[in-house]
Amino acid sequence: MTQFTYSIPTKIIFGPDKLGKLGKELSKFGKKVLMVYGGGSIKKNGIYDKAAASIKEAGLELFELSGVDPNPKVTSVNAGAEICRREGIDVILAVGGGSVIDCSKGISAAAAYDGDAWDLVIGKAKIGKCLPIVTILTLAATGSEMDSVGVISNAETEQKLVIGAPALRPAVSFLDPTLTFSVSAYQTACGSADILSHIMEDYFVDENGSMYMLDRFKEGMMKTVIKYAPIAIAEPDNYEARANLMWTSSWAINGFSGGLTNCEWTNHMIEHELSAIYDITHGLGLAIVTPRWMRYVLDETTAPKFYDFAVNVFGVDPSLPQMEAAMKGIECLEDFLFNKLGLKSTLTEIGIDDKNIDVMAKKACSGKETLNGWKVLTPAQIAEILRACL
Ligand code: NZQ
Ligand code: ZN
Repeated sequence: MTQFTYSIPTKIIFGPDKLGKLGKELSKFGKKVLMVYGGGSIKKNGIYDKAAASIKEAGLELFELSGVDPNPKVTSVNAGAEICRREGIDVILAVGGGSVIDCSKGISAAAAYDGDAWDLVIGKAKIGKCLPIVTILTLAATGSEMDSVGVISNAETEQKLVIGAPALRPAVSFLDPTLTFSVSAYQTACGSADILSHIMEDYFVDENGSMYMLDRFKEGMMKTVIKYAPIAIAEPDNYEARANLMWTSSWAINGFSGGLTNCEWTNHMIEHELSAIYDITHGLGLAIVTPRWMRYVLDETTAPKFYDFAVNVFGVDPSLPQMEAAMKGIECLEDFLFNKLGLKSTLTEIGIDDKNIDVMAKKACSGKETLNGWKVLTPAQIAEILRACL
């Protein structure tokens, strides 16, 4: 019997030229704002100036943490939390993609914790009071703008783990598709692969994990990414394409279409191990792993779902035998990822060999005997999938 609690309290302000409202939204939480951002793209494309002007106009005090890396590191989280404690920050403003927003979530949780933020990530200490988070999204990909988790890396221990709590869901997110016009073709491709993966991780689940209505909704979202990602790559300023990708990124993972099952997100668990060691772009890792995982788990029991995927998402001929249609669906996905998006298709091409495969396969099980996704996988099976990616 389908049962769930639905609560997505993030206020979304969608559309161009809305940053004038930023100061007013922030002032609802207090006077002192910590703006968190990455390597400088927001200074080049003018977002920084617009945000700072609105903050100034509202009479708020602005503090900054810059230089947050892709695959954000716990060192940045600790640095931000230290500023929050020292300055008595009231609200965090994350301006960037998933890495900046995730780092801000770590800071939000760690601000009230007088120790290493990594303790909160690994569960050594409990997340207590969190600071409110407002985001300005600049890259459509992770859905962090509307979900309650962040992913933090520890370069010393080569771990990349999820931190999550209901209070980490952003209070307000500004979603202006024009702010993503400057995203490179490569990051647009990786972001689109990530959005697609979030939908697929919740689509390829056991029968308790979905509903007819939600499956059709997910197929619609997948079709949206498949239609608009190549357009956004060819025409970076295409508002319709950027808007569709942005809103799909948020809905792919905001809790509306998922969470009905305890199925672990197999491809994400495997990819996080790749980026923990090799610091690769998350969406690229997913693009390489996912089709290999699909071929590995395709059998008589999983074929009906792959058939739906092939027919409803890629328009494969429904009169084909189930297994043949299922295989064609996987081929269509490969064509989309590697030809239409232009992503590299093997680990070898991105400089990863078989050296750490067994280590990553074991770590992907998070200390358990198996990785408990749609198909339960042992470390040896995960290693086979990774070897197929070479
Ligand atoms: O650092 P800056 O200079 O801002 O440049 C960034 C970065 O180099 C650039 N960029 C962002 N917006 C731009 C832009 N460049 C030009 N114009 C813009 N408007 O893009 C690069 C990548 O940014 P990043 O934030 O790393 O990308 P993404 O949004 O894909 O985030 C990836 C991180 O999120 C995690 C991933 O594992 C990875 O660490 N994830 C977070 C999730 C979540 N919170 O729910 C779920 C995901 O599955 C994922 O694991
Ligand atoms: Zn992802």
